[in-house]
Amino acid sequence: MTESSGLARPAVVPGSFDPVTLGHLDVIERAAKLFGRVIVGVAVNAAKEAVFGLKARIELIQDCAAHIPGVEVRAVPGLLAEFCRQVEAIAVVKGLRGGQDWGHEEPMAIVNRELTGIETVFLAAAPTWGHVSSSLVKDVARHGGDVSPYVSPGVRQALIDRFGSGGPPRL
Ligand code: PNS
Repeated sequence: MTESSGLARPAVVPGSFDPVTLGHLDVIERAAKLFGRVIVGVAVNAAKEAVFGLKARIELIQDCAAHIPGVEVRAVPGLLAEFCRQVEAIAVVKGLRGGQDWGHEEPMAIVNRELTGIETVFLAAAPTWGHVSSSLVKDVARHGGDVSPYVSPGVRQALIDRFGSGGPPRL
């Protein structure tokens, strides 16, 4: 079954968003400018154990993407390609931070196209965010570092709630 709402076909920006960073937000904003309508698809990456639950990850994105017109946030319950078919997506959009991201993203883009024909469009990450990842942000937060250059105030607070705000460890 597919959605036939009369709305423009959306682009899907998928990820595990554990948690969403300002780099993700830049890609979401640019995708919304290009495609007009974006569904941010919060999915399970079987290779990663999430720190934040699905509901929390969705709410954090809703909070920091509220100012971007045309964006909604949904859970992807199973295969991304199947979700894209159900929402009649025009494309998947992902940000690329150089060669190591390409090695990881290329096979997924090919498999998604083989599964349901969905194409993936890659946006080059803005240099400001090229070094930022959810894993790095969690590691900084875990050790009491300041993550405010990399995430929204809401995500920073969620990281403090999760890991504490003890400041840098004393040596
Ligand atoms: O932000 P991430 O962790 O790099 O995103 C990867 C993600 C979640 C988009 C990918 O693991 C995914 O699509 N998961 C949903 C299940 C699925 O479709 N797996 C097959 C991918 S080819």
